[in-house]
Amino acid sequence: MRLDRFLVDKKLVKSRSKAQNLISLGLVKVNGNVILKSAYEVKPDNDVEITQGTFVSRGGYKLVNFLSRFDFDFNQKLVLDIGCSTGGFSDFFLKNNAKVFGVDVNDVLDKSIKENENFTFVKANILDLNDFEDKLKKHNVSKFDFISVDVSNLRLEYFIFDLKEFMHENSYLIVLFKPAYVLNKSVDDELALSLAEELKGKLAKSFEVVSFELSELKGKVKNQGSSEVFFLLKLKK
Ligand SMILES: C[S@@+](CC[C@H](N)C(=O)[O-])C[C@H]1O[C@@H](n2cnc3c(N)ncnc32)[C@H](O)[C@@H]1O
Repeated sequence: MRLDRFLVDKKLVKSRSKAQNLISLGLVKVNGNVILKSAYEVKPDNDVEITQGTFVSRGGYKLVNFLSRFDFDFNQKLVLDIGCSTGGFSDFFLKNNAKVFGVDVNDVLDKSIKENENFTFVKANILDLNDFEDKLKKHNVSKFDFISVDVSNLRLEYFIFDLKEFMHENSYLIVLFKPAYVLNKSVDDELALSLAEELKGKLAKSFEVVSFELSELKGKVKNQGSSEVFFLLKLKK
């Protein structure tokens, strides 16, 4: 049976298109080997696994689930990862051959990310834009193909609109909205979506909202699962 059909049949993913995306991202192994072809013929005794657990943090797992719906090519793309923390998001981008600049007020990066030659850490507060820009200038970068944002307790409205200056017309902004931090309590799907709808209204004034959907993987707040929403944005034409 074809590998993409096999993943759906075994209920490892919900749809064939999702299976195909995971395969193309190099996240599916058969008998220990990464297989990049959806049409690969799987034998009944083959050992098939989705290798999402290999990210340095849960963030990578969340991101790959969301991005597997789209057909992005990150190869040699410039990525800015805001709130990079341990490096879960960065890990995903690096595994897909991007060049990543990670920003955080704290340096808690996993050693493997920090030592990756395609990763540059910028220790900065995203609210202090002048300082951040000065630090970026030293690396001769100003615009990014992709920007990801995962800053938990920091309100997105405080800085999200400033990010436009780091985007070009084909850039994508990927934002993980975590309403639990705004309300200081665990949030279910319905509440998360209604708050996301409210945020969408504000974002839509400056950005084209390409997509917004619940993260398949929930956040953890006070030991409870809490719903989170991914936004995919572009500059408004
Ligand atoms: C939940 S973590 C991000 C997890 C990360 N995406 C991953 O996959 O490992 C949120 C991060 O945002 C950072 N952060 C919060 N406020 C910030 C600010 N003003 N500027 C830069 N980073 C900030 C925190 O220090 C924290 O490391």
